[in-house]
Amino acid sequence: MKRIEVSDLRSQRWFDAPGIRSFNVRTRALQMGYSRRDFEKKPVIAILNTWSDFAQCHSHFKQRVEEVKRGVLQAGGLPMELPAMSLSETMVKPTTMLYRNFLAMEAEELIWSHPVDGVVLMGGCDKTTPGLIMGAASAGLPAIFVPAGPMLTGRYRGRPLGSGSDNWKFWDERRAGTISEHQWHDMEASLARSPGHCMTMGTASTMTSAAEALGLTLPGAASIPAVDSAHARMASDCGRRIVELVWEDVRPQSIATRASFLNAVAVVMALGGSTNAVIHLIAMAGRFGVPLTLRDFDEVSRVTPVLANLRPSGAHLMEDFYYAGGLRGIMSRMTDRLDLSCLTVSGLSLGETLMGAEVFDDDVIRPLDRPVASEGGIAILTGSLAPDGAVIKHSAASPNLSRHQGRAVVFEDRDDLARRIDDEALEVDETSVLVMKNGGAVGAPGLPEWGALPIPKKLLAKGVRDMVRISDARMSGTSFGTCILHVSPEAARGGPLALVQDGDLIELDIPARRIELCVDADELARRRDAWTPPAPFFSRGYGRLFAEHVTSADQGCDFDFLHAGTATPEPKIY
Ligand code: FES
Repeated sequence: MKRIEVSDLRSQRWFDAPGIRSFNVRTRALQMGYSRRDFEKKPVIAILNTWSDFAQCHSHFKQRVEEVKRGVLQAGGLPMELPAMSLSETMVKPTTMLYRNFLAMEAEELIWSHPVDGVVLMGGCDKTTPGLIMGAASAGLPAIFVPAGPMLTGRYRGRPLGSGSDNWKFWDERRAGTISEHQWHDMEASLARSPGHCMTMGTASTMTSAAEALGLTLPGAASIPAVDSAHARMASDCGRRIVELVWEDVRPQSIATRASFLNAVAVVMALGGSTNAVIHLIAMAGRFGVPLTLRDFDEVSRVTPVLANLRPSGAHLMEDFYYAGGLRGIMSRMTDRLDLSCLTVSGLSLGETLMGAEVFDDDVIRPLDRPVASEGGIAILTGSLAPDGAVIKHSAASPNLSRHQGRAVVFEDRDDLARRIDDEALEVDETSVLVMKNGGAVGAPGLPEWGALPIPKKLLAKGVRDMVRISDARMSGTSFGTCILHVSPEAARGGPLALVQDGDLIELDIPARRIELCVDADELARRRDAWTPPAPFFSRGYGRLFAEHVTSADQGCDFDFLHAGTATPEPKIY
């Protein structure tokens, strides 16, 4: 195993160079109570901690960071905690997606500007995983990801409750009047029982699992419940391992290759994972200089069955998944679909990390001959309504709507939808196609999770629980329904979605991967001539930077100036 020398440690340029600058650095370290032996000849490990009083999914990180530090110290490194933006999915408005790139930039700059040799990334709530990994990819130092772990299963009157999925399901029942105010408040108190991220196969579980499949966590880490003692041990293991990764000079670029990204895509499909993974994995790959396209997702999806029987596509929750064998268990059932030679941060190949992995519950992790669905949960659609692509989680959609023709009922934006969706006079029936414009990265802005458009109240009262719904927005990974998302180009950039009008015929054919706007070309040309883009939402600040530089959903919504390129020069220290 190759090992670097003490003189190769990046941190020593700060701490151990001749001259006044190093004197100042050492003086200030001593000011904090460190002595020379704390930082001399040792790897300095930054711990990027996305804890905050607002980050409900990371409320255990105050304790976990101490466990990471213990591991770093035991291995002979110096742990230094760096707080990073916490991005609570529920608290941050208008949407955390607006700030994923902000966190990625912050992570990169925190790492780069400090005397750091290696990085521990602590995240889990939806955008924190891709944001931290994107930043670490661009910084390029040895890195390991500590996933927050899912919270415990919710319980209500003896029934398991899944965060997100059951919120949406019971909200429809509440609107339909089948649940009382009292029951609604009881559910509110029964849903989230412990620290940890959402315990459905929503975006958080999808992305932490993808990080593990990429090789950026220790084997098995992503499935451990947040409050399990194994989670604390995993955190310490990460602290020990990052010090070794520094000495071995193993950088994420040697781990996150095209082959490992295709492994991650296959795992997302087998999990029935979130549609948000499409955007995040493309953005993460872009930071590593790895080509990854919508077509890759569709090709992998067609040959990968859904094996995880987890909500919202299935029945169980993440705690059940862990006891059933977790991510190592499911990967052991799909080894012929994975490149087992890929390296992981453990120092072992993916194949080596799966040795001895087992499945203990065939209903939670299905065998290949009894899958939840015969192909992956996500399909990529193209056609005249979405020339650059759109995404649907068809494992969580209604099978009877997979081929559908219907007349459009159009909402110009989310405000228009909120005003009219429950209007008794709205001309809509269960065959209609609900269309919402201006929910995209530029139009909303920030690509919020507005894509599970609500069913009109008068149809809910008739028992309708799903309809074809189309938008350029995203959808929560915990949501379900026949929702076509991320329509690209988005309406605010002049995509065909901007031209749809009430009564237009729309054809959906998921098996053929088609989504068509059946309006003749002359009429569309007339509408295009009359179309004007919406006024920019932000005139200043980060929001303006976002709108001016964010790429389209099919390209991952990263900033155009942050894609992989030549390495950022090391800071000058004079
Ligand atoms: Fe944090 Fe769902 S709110 S993962």
